[in-house]
Amino acid sequence: MAELELERAPFARTASYEADPESVARVLLLYSGGLDTSVMLKWIQERYGAEVVTLTVNLGQPREDFSAIRAKAEALGALECLLVDAREEFAAEYVARAIRANALYGGGYPLFTALGRPLIAKLAVEHARRLSCDVIAHGCTGKGNDQVRIESTIATLAPELRVIAPVRSWQMGREEEIAYAREHGIPLASGSEVTPYSIDDNLWGRSSEGRWIEDLEHAPEQDVFGLLTPPEQAPDQAQEIELAFERGLPVALDGKAMGLVALLEELTAIGARHGVGFVDHIEDRIVGLKVRDIYEVPAATIVLSAHRELEKLVSTIHQNQTKPFLEERFAYLVYAGLWWEPLREDLDAYMIAANEAVTGTIALKLYKGSVHVIRRSSPNAVYDPALATFATSGGLFSQAAAPGFIELFSLPSRMAWRLRQSRL
Ligand code: ARG
Repeated sequence: MAELELERAPFARTASYEADPESVARVLLLYSGGLDTSVMLKWIQERYGAEVVTLTVNLGQPREDFSAIRAKAEALGALECLLVDAREEFAAEYVARAIRANALYGGGYPLFTALGRPLIAKLAVEHARRLSCDVIAHGCTGKGNDQVRIESTIATLAPELRVIAPVRSWQMGREEEIAYAREHGIPLASGSEVTPYSIDDNLWGRSSEGRWIEDLEHAPEQDVFGLLTPPEQAPDQAQEIELAFERGLPVALDGKAMGLVALLEELTAIGARHGVGFVDHIEDRIVGLKVRDIYEVPAATIVLSAHRELEKLVSTIHQNQTKPFLEERFAYLVYAGLWWEPLREDLDAYMIAANEAVTGTIALKLYKGSVHVIRRSSPNAVYDPALATFATSGGLFSQAAAPGFIELFSLPSRMAWRLRQSRL
C-alpha cells in the first residue's frame, strides 16, 4: 500500500510517484535553458550521482534559440540532449481543441501554458521510457499550476516512472542559485534568465509574472511588452484581415490556405504589430492562490473573436445558449491539468459535433489594440436575408402568427405576475 510505504520511508516523500533519492539512476530533465533548469542539470548529477538526459520541446516559443539551449545542456554534462519540434502536434491536438471550445479560463486566459504542459509531459514519458530513464525531473515551483499538470500527466501515463522537482524541494533562493551557477561554470549572461519577469510562451501566447505584477495597484509598465507593440505605439493605419474557417478551425488568411502552425505564427506577427491581445488578469490557481498574470495573446484574440462570431451565425439560439456552459467546464479541466480526464474527451466530442457547420469567412479590423468583426459569411448561416428586412413575411416566417406566439409565450409570466400582485 502506498500509505504504508510513505510511513516507512526514511525521507519526506508525500506522493507515491515521488522518487526515492537513494534510487535515482538516470533522469530525464525537462530543460528550458534558463537558470533553474541549468542549475538542476548540474545539481542532479552532483546530488544523486545520476546520469541526466535533457528534453527541450519546441511549442513555437517566439525567437527561442533551440540550438543554443542544446549546446548549453551538452556543456553542462548531459548524456544526451533531445530537442523535439512538437509544434504540429501542439497545434493539431491541443490548440485546435481549445479553438473549437473557445477555451478561456477566468474569462481572459487562453490557456497556452496549460495546453502545452500535458504534451510536454507526454513527450517526457515517451523519451524517458525509450532511453531507460527511471525518473523525470522538472523545474516547476511548488506554488504554480504547472507542477500539477506535469505530475498528474506522468502519474497517469506512466505509473512506473518517478518524479523529482528540485526547485520545489531545495529551497534555494535566486541568490543561492546564482552563486551555485558561478561555482559550477553555468553561464548566466544570455537567454531567458536576464529578463526580470518569469516568462512562459508558445505559439498560442506569452505570460509574464513577478516583480510589480504582484502589486495589484501597479499599472502595467511598458517593459512587460515582450511580444506586442504597446497599443499607443501601434500603426495609425488600421489593418483588415479575412480569416476562413472549416469545421471550426482557421484554414486560410486573406484567401491564402495555410496550415495551423504557420497561420498562428502569421496571426501572432500581425496581431502583435497592432497591439492586439493584451490581458491583465487576476486568476484563481488550482493550488489555492490568487495571482495576477500579464498575457500577450494576439493569435488567440483574433482567432477566438472570429470563431465565436462564425459559430453565432451558424448555430441556433439553443446551441448558442448552451455551448458556453460546456466551454467553461472544458477550460477548467485544461487549466486544472486534467487533460486525461474522460470528461475532457466527452466535452471535446461535443465541441467537434458543434463545429461541424462552422465553415465560412470572418473579416476583422485590427487597430491600436482592438479587434472588430466587420464582415461575416457562411454557407451554413441560419440567416435568411429576405426575412431580416423589417416588416416582411414569407418563406418559413409568418408575421401574422406573431400575436398568437406572444400570447402563449408570455403566459406563465403573466399568470405569475397576477398572482404576485394579488398577494401584495
Ligand atoms: N498562470 C498561467 C497558468 O497557470 C501561466 C503560467 C506560466 N507558467 C510559468 N511557469 N511561468 O497556466
